[in-house]
Amino acid sequence: MKTLQVELEDRSYPIHIGEGLLDRPELVMPHVHGKQVMIVTNETIAPLYLDKALHLFQDYETATVILPDGEEYKNLETLNRVFTALLEKHFNRRCTLVALGGGVIGDITGFAAASYQRGVNFIQIPTTLLAQVDSSVGGKTGVNHPLGKNMIGAFHQPQCVLADTRTLNTLDDRQLSAGIAEVIKYGLINDPGFFTWLETNMPALLQRKPEALAYAVERSCADKAAVVAADEREAGMRALLNLGHTFGHAIETASGYGNWLHGEGVACGMFMAATLSCHQGWIDAAQLQRIKALIQQAGLPVLPPASMSLAQFLDIMAVDKKNIDKKIRLILMKDLGQCFISDNYDHALLQQTIEEMLTASQQA
Ligand code: NAD
Ligand code: GLY
Repeated sequence: MKTLQVELEDRSYPIHIGEGLLDRPELVMPHVHGKQVMIVTNETIAPLYLDKALHLFQDYETATVILPDGEEYKNLETLNRVFTALLEKHFNRRCTLVALGGGVIGDITGFAAASYQRGVNFIQIPTTLLAQVDSSVGGKTGVNHPLGKNMIGAFHQPQCVLADTRTLNTLDDRQLSAGIAEVIKYGLINDPGFFTWLETNMPALLQRKPEALAYAVERSCADKAAVVAADEREAGMRALLNLGHTFGHAIETASGYGNWLHGEGVACGMFMAATLSCHQGWIDAAQLQRIKALIQQAGLPVLPPASMSLAQFLDIMAVDKKNIDKKIRLILMKDLGQCFISDNYDHALLQQTIEEMLTASQQA
């Protein structure tokens, strides 16, 4: 097992990463302060891991809430089901919520914890690669609105993250690839050595070799923990973690939540951001080709849905949380592994990039 620490003064917490951690109650017990534990999961994960989770918290008064599965349920209505379960069971302010699942369950549970009785403790037990490398760390919580993804939420850090890499064995290939998109993201943002490691080790990751998966989770979490420690509330550099997300959220929103996976939108969005950076002359064609090859090797898309239009992209991108004064702010790159945030790019080139990619998609 490896343990990393997210350094946030009195809100610091450990990320435990390893095989079989769902059998280690001693790792979570120090982080449960009251007697009541509510495990929030969904109907896919419950048959796989709920018994183990209940065993982890067997010394407490446990209850469970099992939500429907899917990004389309990451909304206020589903969140309210968690509040109802907590109130029906008379959970008090010293209760602990446990998110057992992927990013959807983590984001909903975290937001429930942020707002139930003005804030209670929670523990993340991420079971997808995407959740283990990204969404369980850093305290961003929330739900979608029909007009925009993740538009309702709060920053609320967990007490601990328990990433049992063995849970990744039951994940289907498409979901594994979606998680790899966020792993590639860290290489592109500011870890060129990791990008190179991924170019060599992508086959091992896709074959779920335990050492490769463990290394990818550890290095991703270390990269993310460093950014979160430096800028918890996204006043500056944390925005870099949104590489590809502005394009990706537009794709997710336009195609209906759940049709494109979050990681697939991010993968395509990273390639769109890289293409715009290339059009600007900030990266060269060979670098762009390496990025495209790695994304495709991971089984991820590089072209947006053919059914989308330029106007749709621009309309949805205009409501992104990073925007200031109506300018679409994007994460772009000036080298492989060197991203920056900017609204100082040529807007005509942005339009050209989107149009080019839509045309390529329509012709594919
Ligand atoms: P997800 O939570 O929908 O999980 C993907 C699918 O895998 C679901 O059907 C789920 O039931 C299933 N599943 C989960 N664990 C499994 C397992 N071990 N075995 C078999 N099936 C399993 O999707 P995701 O990719 O984990 O997360 C995407 C969400 O995370 C999006 O809503 C995105 O906005 C959010 N996100 C949040 C942050 C953040 O910082 N808070 C960061 C990145 C993404
Ligand atoms: N996934 C983006 C962030 O945590 O800031």
